Amino acid sequence: MGSLFVEEKCIGYYSSRDRILLVGEGDFSFALSLATAFGDASNMVATSLDSEGMLEVKYMSSARANVALLKLKGCTILHEVDALTMSQHPNLRHRVFDRIAYNFPHAGFVGREDNSYQISLHKEVVGGFLRNGRNMLTEKGEIHVTHKTEYPYSEWEIVKLGQDAGLKLTGIESFNVHAYPGYVNRRGAGNRSYETFRVGTSCTYKQWRSLKVLAGGAGIFLIKFGFYVRVKNTVRVESNNNNAKVSVRLIEKKTFFLK
Ligand SMILES: C[S@@+](CC[C@H](N)C(=O)[O-])C[C@H]1O[C@@H](n2cnc3c(N)ncnc32)[C@H](O)[C@@H]1O
Repeated sequence: MGSLFVEEKCIGYYSSRDRILLVGEGDFSFALSLATAFGDASNMVATSLDSEGMLEVKYMSSARANVALLKLKGCTILHEVDALTMSQHPNLRHRVFDRIAYNFPHAGFVGREDNSYQISLHKEVVGGFLRNGRNMLTEKGEIHVTHKTEYPYSEWEIVKLGQDAGLKLTGIESFNVHAYPGYVNRRGAGNRSYETFRVGTSCTYKQWRSLKVLAGGAGIFLIKFGFYVRVKNTVRVESNNNNAKVSVRLIEKKTFFLK
């Protein structure tokens, strides 16, 4: 006799019961890792900024093979989806998701990673992703950004970017690349797009939609005092990752001048 219940399958921070949107995929191996764990991927939409042709140039046959397997599992694949405008994409405009994830966002290699202009480009991509994603979440939905935490990547101020987008941070979890069998994190830009990179002490920042009005209220309260306010967010993350203890201290600072 058939069962009325569909078994929930989980991998990493993701469940087969979630409607999942993946943004900025490289060779689609992360999407395939989730889809393989779930068996059925009809609740998933996996997207790349790259066109089909560009994927072929960057990753040769690997992206094509991954995309073909994803389609067999019912996953919707969309190319040329820009994180900065994705909420207006014709195939996404009317949809909401329980999880929206972007692993290792990166704006491409313009300068050195510690160059302030290069950092501002990365922040534009992540900020745009978070602002768009905020409008595409279910009530209890989460946006995930997986990112390196050491300098100069710490300069991106992911938590602050989330706050600016009207999101509330609900957690920072250490990221274990081995939790996603088959996933190969790719550089995704430059003449070594195909290559992977060391994830180091990367974390998944989980941001939850919050009410914009709360941020406005806090602003009015502070403006009354008319002085410089230095805001420091310190988040300590500790986790047992494959028996290796990972401890990360993230500090994000911002100075506001209030008239
Ligand atoms: C470091 S790679 C990571 C790729 C993949 N997420 C992974 O983990 O293997 C950065 C990715 O961000 C994508 N990207 C850059 N700008 C983007 C944008 N505005 N919208 C969506 N994706 C973008 C690139 O095409 C590239 O695939």
